[in-house]
Parts: sequence; C-alpha cells; structure tokens
Amino acid sequence: MRKKIVAGNWKMNKSRDEACDFFNLIQKSFLPEEVQLMVFPSALYLTEAVGIVNNKVIIGAQNCHFETKGAFTGEISSSMIASVGANAVIVGHSERRNLFNETNTMLAKKASDVVQSGLTLIFCCGEMLHERENQQHFKVVEEQLKNGLFHLSLEQFAKVIIAYEPVWAIGTGKTASASDAQDMHCFIRSLLSQIHPSVAHQTSILYGGSCTPANAKELFKQPDIDGGLIGGASLNVSDFLAIANSF
Ligand code: 13P
Repeated sequence: MRKKIVAGNWKMNKSRDEACDFFNLIQKSFLPEEVQLMVFPSALYLTEAVGIVNNKVIIGAQNCHFETKGAFTGEISSSMIASVGANAVIVGHSERRNLFNETNTMLAKKASDVVQSGLTLIFCCGEMLHERENQQHFKVVEEQLKNGLFHLSLEQFAKVIIAYEPVWAIGTGKTASASDAQDMHCFIRSLLSQIHPSVAHQTSILYGGSCTPANAKELFKQPDIDGGLIGGASLNVSDFLAIANSF
C-alpha cells in the first residue's frame, strides 16, 4: 500500500513564534492515523519543529545544497538538516527552478545528496502555463524526471516522493481539474514503471497547486493521487488538518 501524505510547504512565511504556535497546536490535535503529515518550515525553525512535534509529523527543509560542507555562503547541507533531527528535503520546487535558476543537472545532484544523507526526498515537477497550452506538459515533466530524478537506484527510490505541481496552479487559486491531475499522475507512474517497475506502485505521488479543503477530496479520490503538497492552505492548522482528513 502506498502512503497517503499531506505535506505543508510554508515557503518564506511565519515568524518563530507563529511557527511554534502552529506546531504546539498540531501536537495537541487528533491526526488521521492513515495519513503521514509532513511540514517544511523555514530552516531556521527546524530544531524547534522537531522538538515539538517529534514523531507525529515529519519535519523537513525546503531546499539544500548538494555539497556536504565548504565555502558556500548562505547554504545549508542535507547532513546539517539531518543533524538537527529533520527527516526530509524538498528538491526542484518550481520557485527554486524559476526564481533561483536551479537546473536539472543541479537538481539531480541535490536529489542524490538528499537520499545519501538518509533523508526522504520530495522531488517536484510541473509545467508552466504556456507549456500546457502548447500540449508540452507531458514532455516537460518527463524531462524533469529523467534528468533530475531517474538516475537514483532502486534502493534509493524507497526514499522518494514525487510532487506534481503545475506552475500555473501554484498560489493562483486555479487548481488542475481532478482528471487532468490524474492523467499526469498516471503518466508519471508509467514513467516510473519503465525505470524501476517494482517501485512504481509504491511511490507516493502528491498533487500541489492551490489545493484547499474545498478541492482536496475530489483530487485525493483519484487512483494515482496519493496526497498533496500544500502551500498557502498549510499555514493554517485547521485548513491543513481539513486537507489531511480529505481521503
Ligand atoms: P499553493 O498551495 O499556495 O498553490 O502552493 C503550492 C506549492 O507550491 C506547494 O509546494
């Protein structure tokens, strides 16, 4: 059985106090047993988050450098993330690709580094609006996965979660229709089965892009959608938990 996962990507939001309030509330809340919750706060608060929610929620970082250590001012490594007790890293978010010029080559190195550090990897992919309008969306996602992720070994894939996030749906209030999202998730699973047939049915594929309590049920009903990577709606405990209760 694939894991059902609801993951919150906070991006550059919340003060330390606001983050701690969120985690204290989550710690006291009843969480659905069959759903794994993950939260990706600012790296500044990883230690606090790990300390508060302990084993109830997986805590991870939104980014890392691909080297272990060295003269890379402003960067953090996956081994540093692991050293504070966090367990996951997001790689390849479209904001990293588009605003910080992260290339598939760089993302491939980051993906290797994250799994080598023993952390869970959420690898993001997704097309831009003009690419969908030009019917290029399947090709774009295939290239992102082939060039950024599919070099990992069968064993390493045990640590991989894929997130399909169409760029035009992120933060825009425009969600992919459940059937368009399902078509892409099914396509991604078919690509996985060409690379590592045995992991294709075990790898969780999350949808991201204006996922809210209002549309999560319809999305999560689809056979190849195993949960969500949530931006805006993950900043609020009740919305986040409502999404987690949408399976
Ligand atoms: P929104 O849910 O705010 O559209 O963001 C999605 C996202 O980018 C999650 O990584």
